[in-house]
Amino acid sequence: MSVYTSQKQGCDETGDGSSSKPYKTALKALLSISGDEAVTIYVDNQGDDSGDKPFVEISASQKKKQMKLYQAEVRKGKAREQKEAEDAQRREEVLQEASKISISEDQSLEKAVEIKLRDCTEYRDKRIKAYGWVHNLRRQGKSIMFIVLRDGTGYLQCVLSDKLCQTVDAIQLQTEATVIVYGIISKVPEGQHAPGGHELICDYWEVVGHSPGGGIESVVTEKSDVDLQLRQKHLVIRWDEHSKVLKLRSAITFCFRQHYFDSGYVEVTPPTLVKTQCEGGSTLFSFDYFGEQAYLTQSSQLYLETVLPSIGDTFCMAQSYRAEKAKTRRHLSEFTHVEAECPFITFEGLLERLEDLVCGVCERILKSPYKDMLLEVNPDFKVPKRPFKRMLYSDAIQWLKDHDIKNEETGEFYEFGEDIPEAPERKMTDAINEPIFLCKFPAGIKAFYMLRSADDDRLTDSVDLLMPNVGEIIGGSMREYRLDVLMEGYKREEIDPTPYYWYTDQRKFGTSKSGGYGLGLERFLTWMLNKPHIRDVCLYPRFRERIDP
Ligand code: 4AD
Repeated sequence: MSVYTSQKQGCDETGDGSSSKPYKTALKALLSISGDEAVTIYVDNQGDDSGDKPFVEISASQKKKQMKLYQAEVRKGKAREQKEAEDAQRREEVLQEASKISISEDQSLEKAVEIKLRDCTEYRDKRIKAYGWVHNLRRQGKSIMFIVLRDGTGYLQCVLSDKLCQTVDAIQLQTEATVIVYGIISKVPEGQHAPGGHELICDYWEVVGHSPGGGIESVVTEKSDVDLQLRQKHLVIRWDEHSKVLKLRSAITFCFRQHYFDSGYVEVTPPTLVKTQCEGGSTLFSFDYFGEQAYLTQSSQLYLETVLPSIGDTFCMAQSYRAEKAKTRRHLSEFTHVEAECPFITFEGLLERLEDLVCGVCERILKSPYKDMLLEVNPDFKVPKRPFKRMLYSDAIQWLKDHDIKNEETGEFYEFGEDIPEAPERKMTDAINEPIFLCKFPAGIKAFYMLRSADDDRLTDSVDLLMPNVGEIIGGSMREYRLDVLMEGYKREEIDPTPYYWYTDQRKFGTSKSGGYGLGLERFLTWMLNKPHIRDVCLYPRFRERIDP
């Protein structure tokens, strides 16, 4: 019998000792054959350059050395097994002892009021009942145990003493287990600290569900690589910083809705399974819809335009999808798209509405109960100054030339008519370091529905809002209101107008000079919370090669 090892290609974890899947070390080989001297161990043939004879038998001196290591390892293993057996025995005895202890709620006590942990102040010096997860756990000797309870709304330090921390449940308790605690709540004395600032002297408690030993940290820690953190995101979101991001996202979403409702917009919910594209075929996700080809929507804009004659100014906050191949700091395959559409406005009016939206949402969050949380996450946050800098696309092309920023692939300067990609756009935005309305892009690089500028037919009345650290967070434009020019747009983009009949009808049944925009909620949050990567503001981010959890 033979077993193969290779320092070059072997692996102790995934190898099986065959010549095609060798182990890495001779020690691993010996462990796999329980030190059987009759088995031949093969190692890399250092002298073989041709690759014809990649393995040679291990030398006698090497084998002797490895055998000693193997015997030491076996001794260590035996000692480990013995210690484990002793520990198990001790645990069993402790559990036996603990099983004799039972606790029950003292019915003569004041009836406990069930509370959420955010309301601790209101219930000081009262007997309460609270549910939550064990965020932290500290045992002090046999008769004191401190639990920091977390219920998503706050934290509460609970002190369990005597019998309460000697039951089987108490001994088996681990972080992330769920419990119900009962007792009197009070403010922690001056000079002492506890998360949330309150302490519960527990008089009774119950376990709802236990958790594995070591809690979340046994699976993933803040030092784990990004991929593992993303795969375990369902646990990672229990960490404080992630919980803050989820809460701020909810509060900021609410501010967007408040802004629109206070400005008289009506919200709609357009479908996201569609027959038409909006932003070019290269980023379309297609699927089979009961035998018919359909797509996941790239933008709800075209549907929003159809409701203008029915309800006036309108907005939606729906999911949009882009089959983005590139993995960048700002691209997702699924994102929340805040889109609005307004009839009878001018291009300048559209820009003012964008300033109102961005600054309005910032002002609202700073007036909300979430102000402190936002400033904890991004201490430098400030409402941007109005008016935002206006810059023409053609001036941006010149700015890149003036600052010697070239296309890295071709080594040439960017010329009028070319798309300005993410990298140069970021360099410019970060150098200027304030919000920029980049306006009037050439028709050739923009979508079929954008209005041609009255003063220069090569251009469109379009705008991207660029923010420092993120780049583009909004794309918008005036809409082409002339039927014939719209039809040319379809042709230029090689789009069959047939499935767009309902959109084209908007230009036949009373057209209007309207404008609108789409804001990527995650890009806005990346900017507002000053996060390094767009995935940091998503619950379960979707990008290439990431579809779970
Ligand atoms: O500039 P875009 O492609 O414009 C539209 O979709 C228009 N139809 C919107 C409209 O006028 N109603 O996308 C608008 C915004 C971008 O500025 C960006 O913030 C966000 O949507 N966005 C993305 N966010 C994350 N990942 C992606 N792959 C995104 N693609 C666009």
